[in-house]
Amino acid sequence: TRALTFLGIESSCDDTAAAVVRSDAASGKILSTVVQGQTALHADFGGVVPEIAARAHVERLDDCIREALQTAGVRLDELDGIAVTAGPGLIGGVLSGMMTAKALAAATGLPMVGVNHLAGHALTPRLTDGLDYPYLMLLVSGGHCQFLAVEGPQSFRRLGSTIDDAPGEAFDKIAKILGLPQPGGPHVERAAASGDARRFAFPRPLLDRAGCDLSFSGLKTAVLRARDALVAAQGGLTEQDRCDLCAGFQAAVADVLAEKTRRALAASPVTALAVAGGVAANSAILAKLETVSAQAGARFLAPPLPLCTDNAAMIAWAGIELFREGQTDGPELSARSRWPL
Ligand code: KG4
Ligand code: ZN
Repeated sequence: TRALTFLGIESSCDDTAAAVVRSDAASGKILSTVVQGQTALHADFGGVVPEIAARAHVERLDDCIREALQTAGVRLDELDGIAVTAGPGLIGGVLSGMMTAKALAAATGLPMVGVNHLAGHALTPRLTDGLDYPYLMLLVSGGHCQFLAVEGPQSFRRLGSTIDDAPGEAFDKIAKILGLPQPGGPHVERAAASGDARRFAFPRPLLDRAGCDLSFSGLKTAVLRARDALVAAQGGLTEQDRCDLCAGFQAAVADVLAEKTRRALAASPVTALAVAGGVAANSAILAKLETVSAQAGARFLAPPLPLCTDNAAMIAWAGIELFREGQTDGPELSARSRWPL
């Protein structure tokens, strides 16, 4: 197959991103990847504000794209196509990326490919490691939690997903109720490292139910109750209390993810497990998943963190895979806020 060079554009949440990726025989080479985060813009609001995010994307996309092309040393007319996230996500952000991609495609005559953001995450281990289909993907982020049997660039079988919160969302809420900064995941992990995971007996939700669905909201409530009990008894929390609560919470999340992963591996004919999403930054969770994979005789892949979290290289790569399958999209392509795989 001929090498293809694609520009990727991602703006579905709170990262404005552009990247240039070139395919080689088995995988892809990232020629550039630019991500402009918006954490500071949303810090005062306790979450991503869609209107603020959309504005920032509009203001920053041109710059990101210029920088991505420049860093890659690739001119627009040397590209084979433009891939853009067409959903799911915050609609204003998705629209701003798509308007930019459509304008570029119209001006250059290059083909445009609309990409599902989740497919971008799910195909990342092919970009980084040339992983063969089929494989199991565990997507664990602030907005998503699902097991996908990845069978082709357009062929995903969902084996299970969260019935309430995503694990990253739970990490963020735990940080909030313990007075730790946002996004909470890294702070909870750091506190947990000095904590005793056995001090609090937190539940392992849904382990009693067959299958691979997950739940995290009951666990969050249990941590909240334990905090309230401590505050009522001693008038506040000590540093050690905080660390112990974080450790207990993180151990429960890791146990649940590990057991459900064990089942998902047993239920599908795959020889590899790959992870994606911001929660894949958590080393305690990664260690458990690695053990479970080894026990199942499956290869374990955790792409480098900047490729686990939102980025445009994964969108460029997914665009290349879809383009090879014959997909191109015209100016009528519409943005989708919801778009299950
Ligand atoms: O994939 P991501 O960057 O954004 C989306 O949600 O799409 O994931 C962000 C989430 C946040 O909820 C953050 O708290 C969580 O990933 N996270 C972590 C860690 N680092 C980031 N959760 C647990 N442990 C971490 N070390
Ligand atoms: Zn994402």
